[in-house]
Amino acid sequence: MSSAVARPEVQALRPSQIREVANASLARKDILKFWVGESDQPTPMFIREATARALMAGETYYTHNLGREDLREALSAYLGRLHGQPVGLERLGITSAGVNALMLVSQAVVSPGDRVVVTTPAWPNIVEIPRILSARLETVALERAQGRWRLDLDRLMTALTPDTRALFLNSPNNPTGWTLPAEDRAAILERCRRYGIWLITDDPYERLIFGPEPSAPSFLPLAGDDERVISTNTFSKAWRMTGWRMGWMVLPRSLVDSMGVVIEYNTSCAPDFIQSGAIAALNHGEPSIAALRAELAAAKDQVVGALRQMPGVEAPEPQGGMYAFFRIEGVTNSVAVAKDLIAKAGIGLAPGSAFGPEGQGWLRWCFANRPETNAAGLERLARYLKG
Ligand SMILES: Cc1ncc(COP(=O)(O)O)c(C=O)c1O
Repeated sequence: MSSAVARPEVQALRPSQIREVANASLARKDILKFWVGESDQPTPMFIREATARALMAGETYYTHNLGREDLREALSAYLGRLHGQPVGLERLGITSAGVNALMLVSQAVVSPGDRVVVTTPAWPNIVEIPRILSARLETVALERAQGRWRLDLDRLMTALTPDTRALFLNSPNNPTGWTLPAEDRAAILERCRRYGIWLITDDPYERLIFGPEPSAPSFLPLAGDDERVISTNTFSKAWRMTGWRMGWMVLPRSLVDSMGVVIEYNTSCAPDFIQSGAIAALNHGEPSIAALRAELAAAKDQVVGALRQMPGVEAPEPQGGMYAFFRIEGVTNSVAVAKDLIAKAGIGLAPGSAFGPEGQGWLRWCFANRPETNAAGLERLARYLKG
């Protein structure tokens, strides 16, 4: 009898190290959990109310594969306001959150054996999704200089060879907070154009930056509407809608029809009434995004500032996102120290090694919490470090 196991590519997927650490915490009820990437506050009330009204009004049907036209209109207007350049609704696809957008895009453009380049440390899904599709993965490691993470552009250029199929860029980056400088975009775009490389930017944190600009530097204003440039995004982070599973893609015109078909064979469409919630989020969400940005900037100063005061702790300054990525002198095994922190200090942190080998020895703290929760965690960590 044949053995009932998954394809080799699926068996080779790395189990989630964050899950492994979380499982080690089950025996303790008093853990302060900083391992998940989400705000501790629920979705703003106006979004919940709009969605509840839509549900009660009977918006419970299948929709267009690419999402309802009124949602794509609202998204087109939002993106035009944000990036100062129109993004036509005929280029938009609504997805069941950001991870689904990444899978759909990968299924549409990555074939088995394709060479795919990713900068690391990276959110594990960005690396594992191409692997499910049997791509060959090449990583370019971010580096640290002057207390920040940076991308060595020359190293990236060397990795972008003529046989590269796709480059995945995530800026602001989960977990490091590294954010691509605006001036680096032209060279990357030029190289991708020259070799026909698909440039896939994963942009869930583009609004969550620690500066006055409304968005992190985006490739959308630089690229034409039918080039190999795709942006994947989500309502999860900027609108505190992680549990809703709503996201989107900005696509080149020539890819849109095929993408509709790929969506048909995945989820077929995003949930109807939740699309009404997304419209409310886009049309009326700016005050709540501004509030979140202010909270995150204060939380970043609180957590990164305190970590830097602790002896033996290195905590580079993030430019965006909701994470402090730091290491403790002498620590070489992230999972072991994350489990020890649970057992001895009651703090739940994500092990840095979950984000690639460059993260080994590092820990990730999601600081999108009330100040008193972050303060209690910092106190526990300080006590742990004192031994
Ligand atoms: C870099 C990155 N991309 C995409 C996502 C997708 O989030 P979601 O699937 O909730 O939209 C996340 C979530 O943590 C992320 O960190």
